Amino acid sequence: MPKDKLSKKGFRAKLGGIFKRKKIKTLPPPPPKPLPKGYKVVEKYPLYEPFAHAAIAQNPVTGEHKYILDELRLDTLEQSVYDRILEILLAEIANPQEEIEDPRQFFVTEAEKIVGKYRISLGWLPDVSWSKILYHAQRNLVGFGRIDALMRDPNIEDISCDGVEKPVYIWHRRYENLETNMVFHADQELDDSVVKLVHMAGKHVSSAFPIVDASLPGKHRLAVCYRREVTPFGTAFTIRKFRDDPYSIIDLINLGTLSEEMAAYFWTCLENRASLMVLGGTASGKTTFLNAVACLIKPGSKIITIEETAELNLPHENWVSLIARRSYGLGENLTGEVSLFDLVKTSMRHRPDLIVVGEIRGSEAYTLFQALATGHGGMATMHADSIDSAVKRLIQKPMDIAPAYMPLMNIVVSIQRVHLPQSKTGEMTAYRRVISVDEIADYEDYKKLFNWNATDDVHISLLKNSIALNSVTTRRGLSWQKLMEEMKRRENVLRWMRERNIRSYKDVAGVITEYNAKPESFYEREVLAGAPAKNS
Ligand SMILES: Nc1ncnc2c1ncn2[C@@H]1O[C@H](COP(=O)(O)OP(=O)(O)OP(=O)(O)O)[C@@H](O)[C@H]1O
Ligand SMILES: [Mg+2]
Repeated sequence: MPKDKLSKKGFRAKLGGIFKRKKIKTLPPPPPKPLPKGYKVVEKYPLYEPFAHAAIAQNPVTGEHKYILDELRLDTLEQSVYDRILEILLAEIANPQEEIEDPRQFFVTEAEKIVGKYRISLGWLPDVSWSKILYHAQRNLVGFGRIDALMRDPNIEDISCDGVEKPVYIWHRRYENLETNMVFHADQELDDSVVKLVHMAGKHVSSAFPIVDASLPGKHRLAVCYRREVTPFGTAFTIRKFRDDPYSIIDLINLGTLSEEMAAYFWTCLENRASLMVLGGTASGKTTFLNAVACLIKPGSKIITIEETAELNLPHENWVSLIARRSYGLGENLTGEVSLFDLVKTSMRHRPDLIVVGEIRGSEAYTLFQALATGHGGMATMHADSIDSAVKRLIQKPMDIAPAYMPLMNIVVSIQRVHLPQSKTGEMTAYRRVISVDEIADYEDYKKLFNWNATDDVHISLLKNSIALNSVTTRRGLSWQKLMEEMKRRENVLRWMRERNIRSYKDVAGVITEYNAKPESFYEREVLAGAPAKNS
């Protein structure tokens, strides 16, 4: 599970905050939902042994899948002991003596001590019951409550609840959109769970401020619409789970999202200060791609990232993360608001080499283009399905960028979630693919650099079209052939990393640093001497 540092004060404040609003009274657990009729379990895997497992059930007739969360439940006696021990834990758990790395582990250790002290006076229960009670206490006090086990499933990308009496849905890496057997049956239960999540994110939600975007411990992105203020079915929430270990460029090549040649192209262009924009639909992988290519940027560069909720995770030392802040005023009185626009504006005063805007939607785009015009590097994502629709939105209000400014954004990457047959079973599975890379020569004049061929699942390159690479040759006094040789070397370095399973974003950044420092000697010493690269 993700670790979050918490100060001494913060730990108790968070524990207390959960129940501050009312007297502790746990709701009776909802009855377990049996396996839907006609469904068969096709896969089962542990989430938190021995307390929680996930099962994927399939209807053999329709082929439809469902996600069954199988969690050990408390019986009536255990539930009553649980209610009492919860009060004792909250009263007795001591402040940590020093800053704690892992609040969950701290809680477990302390809770075990306290349970040891009281277990006899609370009546005899077998060890297994105490383990279950402690599991539920941990889940509800320092975990994510009822969805805690889902948060432990690395296969889940998103968790969403559309309202009360509606099943919670997840996006599963292999089975895609799945209905789960988890339902919030009462408004109170759903509202309390969501208030707890919002408090864990250090934010406030109420009927007056029913819309919240926040970052949960572990950097999971939380979006909430509270009560029936704007959502007639009751509180709705969606969590985009954050990977503790973000996808690196090597992971994305291994997943087939882009080719080695494309990565070498991005590496070369970004090193030469090209600007880049990633386009795609919801959950197409825009932010992930942006994060992965950002690791190709020279390590010493000063990078400023600007986001609404913190999602980017860079290995660079010289990295400043700026997060927008919502106002706590009502109506017109937006006192204290710090918008993306404000942050992009202020970022220029911090002398960045590169400004990365998580997602452009409004007037911040205008300021980003101004930054590009004054020689800063820039990267951003934008929700759009094609370069044409993106450019049309960019030139209209509120972004309002002059068409003549368009070529300041050099490279446009379009990414999509596509369905391809699996080689073994032929079953259609979702993958992310960069479907095209274009360079903007002028307003409505784009040069195609890479194209994805769906039939063979390969990327076709048209590098000769590249304005960015041609300008590198001019600026560095290199012939096209020399530049292509350099790109080939970089491709081989990327393949060398793949062959050696050097994939974590920090390790990849380490190799990029070494290569950038002394390309020739690194290449000869490591890549050529280690394993002669194919096709070189
Ligand atoms: N290339 C990829 N291959 C496999 N999974 C991916 C890939 N890129 C992203 N993902 C997964 O897809 C999910 C969505 O990714 P991401 O947040 O990057 O999408 P997004 O386009 O930025 O979404 P949004 O529009 O909501 O901001 C994440 O769980 C991520 O781990
Ligand atoms: Mg995103």
